[in-house]
Amino acid sequence: MTDFDEASMTSGYDRYLAAKTTVDDRALNRQVLAELRRLMPAGAPRVLEIGAGLGTMVARLMDWDVVGAGEYILLDADWPLLDCSRRWLCDWAVARGLRSELLPDGLQLGELRVRLVHAELGGYLEAAHGSPADVLIANAVLDLVDVPAVLPGLLRLLVPGGVYWFTINYDGESIFEPGHPHDDQVMRAYHRDMDERIRYGRPAGDSRTGRRLFHQLRAAGAPALAAGSSDWVVSAGPDGNYTGDEAYFLRSILSTIQNALRSREDWVGPADLADWLAVRQRQLAAGELVYLAHQLDFAGRSPG
Ligand SMILES: C[S@@+](CC[C@H](N)C(=O)[O-])C[C@H]1O[C@@H](n2cnc3c(N)ncnc32)[C@H](O)[C@@H]1O
Repeated sequence: MTDFDEASMTSGYDRYLAAKTTVDDRALNRQVLAELRRLMPAGAPRVLEIGAGLGTMVARLMDWDVVGAGEYILLDADWPLLDCSRRWLCDWAVARGLRSELLPDGLQLGELRVRLVHAELGGYLEAAHGSPADVLIANAVLDLVDVPAVLPGLLRLLVPGGVYWFTINYDGESIFEPGHPHDDQVMRAYHRDMDERIRYGRPAGDSRTGRRLFHQLRAAGAPALAAGSSDWVVSAGPDGNYTGDEAYFLRSILSTIQNALRSREDWVGPADLADWLAVRQRQLAAGELVYLAHQLDFAGRSPG
């Protein structure tokens, strides 16, 4: 999630983002996606994706025929991850039978030129940059930044009337089933950690990002033209196996909670946390763990 963002540059984070792909595929709100298709400029648009990670979104948007030509910029603060994205996208292109070529600053995927930009978002917004984008995308990212501080600058990265698609914005509710007596305590503490988090020297997260975006977008002069839920729903099939690499995805979610709370002993006692994790890990191994996270998607236009 978004919020369940393991400290970047950890080994395995690229696998977590790849494993998340099938979860996001199911979750992304189809009505909001239809609005993005309607708003998408014809021809060869310039797309900027912030916090792009491994680049799974550009692959998805090509698979779903939303983008196919033009320029697509992957911006992220994590250089090793961006570097991995070149290889990951080339492998994806080979599997799809799409012509691809590695380039010094990115790669070519068919008619689409993908460029990698290594930058921290706050610093990027403060510096001067080149031509504005036609489309701005943020997937599982806005709940990791200080939205009121960055939103006006983000919208200025777009041409007037340019299109935004902000997806998988966490909204304060994670559910693990079967229920456990420590669930409320653990999730309350996790949300508090998210609300107090500092990354890159800036406030970095809000456990209720999704609901707040409605009025934050309006206040920034860019009210949503479409909004809808994009909840993650992860459960094993009848054979007890999780889809794709989703068991790894769930393991990453549990270890993210563990890492966030291991130094918050006054919020959740170590014995309670250990008990909660042990039960969840057993349920995961048995294919019994169900995980739901409430999130929201938005599409609209920048002012002007
Ligand atoms: C949860 S991951 C999502 C990655 C990708 N959008 C996806 O859905 O697979 C969040 C990404 O945002 C990046 N990120 C977080 N804070 C950032 C910041 N302030 N500036 C730039 N990138 C940031 C992280 O490095 C990470 O790759």
